[in-house]
Amino acid sequence: MKKLLAIETSCDETAAAVVDEKINILSNIVLSQDEIHAPYGGIVPELASRQHILSLTYIVAEALERAEINLSQVDVFGVTQGPGLIGSLLVGLSLAKGLAFYYQKSLIPVDHLEAHLESVFIEHSWLSLPALGLLVSGGHTSLYLLRQRLSYQLLGKTRDDAAGEALDKVAKFLDLGYPGGPLIEHLAEQGDRQAFPFRVPQMTDGSLDFSFSGLKTAALKQIKENKLSADHPLFHDFLASFEAAVVRSLIKNLDRAVPQFRPRSVFLCGGVSRNKHLRETFLAWAHKKGLPAAIPSPQYCTDNAAMVGALAMKKFLQGQGAHLNLELNAYPRADYRRG
Ligand code: KG4
Ligand code: ZN
Repeated sequence: MKKLLAIETSCDETAAAVVDEKINILSNIVLSQDEIHAPYGGIVPELASRQHILSLTYIVAEALERAEINLSQVDVFGVTQGPGLIGSLLVGLSLAKGLAFYYQKSLIPVDHLEAHLESVFIEHSWLSLPALGLLVSGGHTSLYLLRQRLSYQLLGKTRDDAAGEALDKVAKFLDLGYPGGPLIEHLAEQGDRQAFPFRVPQMTDGSLDFSFSGLKTAALKQIKENKLSADHPLFHDFLASFEAAVVRSLIKNLDRAVPQFRPRSVFLCGGVSRNKHLRETFLAWAHKKGLPAAIPSPQYCTDNAAMVGALAMKKFLQGQGAHLNLELNAYPRADYRRG
């Protein structure tokens, strides 16, 4: 059985995983840098790449040990090529290139966003196509139609902030720390989701794009006007209402896309899809629509190398990346991909 070692360093998680050709995840190690970036309320790119340099070889060693193999038993390497922070990406890509060259094995570069989309199939290979997939993370909020495996059509994307970014920025404004999504989720648990009436944006041109900067600005205005802070009696209600508005906005676009594209299933992926309120609302909505629905387990939602390995293995089995290309370079943005 062929085994693939995958490396993911696109942002602030240092991750490695071993995946076999049946897409069994033999190990999946993620080292978060949250504590390093928390004092700044967001990711500091230079600190992220330096930390990847310090941690990556240990994380790779741990992934191999848990999978009970050594480097010479790896049949193929997989790595995130982009989009992401360029310095961070280069750390993972350089190590992967070096290993593939030394062991004379194939190296499969993968796109981080496609890896998030593939993450759902690790545990839900039964999903029937075409599927409507919503990727909600700190850097992206995009809706895709997946007609065939590994073939994605972008239907809509955010015109400004990503959903996770809006949560992170509101948390930063309130000095809650980083990343804001899980912190807001925890504090919102006891709150009243109806207490603050946030208006969910609607694209006037009928597109399926998202926008979160209006919601974020409305939230910041409420914080200032009501002098909201952790000891304010309406603090939890405010966070619950804001979180609910973000979720409503996501589900609204999904709902609009269903009659247009008539999918046979729906799925969520990306870091924000760890959010309990989003998961529950999405599943209830899909049930009402009579659509089979899937969300990855939490460890496959936020950045991880298992999803990179799953996608790289699929590509390898299709015959992609048979030759080692040492010219491979990282790309920071989705639209630089073919450049
Ligand atoms: O997919 P991911 O790990 O990285 C990107 O590719 O961006 O997503 C990170 C984002 C952050 O914005 C973080 O606040 C958000 O996912 N997030 C959450 C939760 N866990 C992570 N947002 C809401 N609720 C959560 N439980
Ligand atoms: Zn991601």
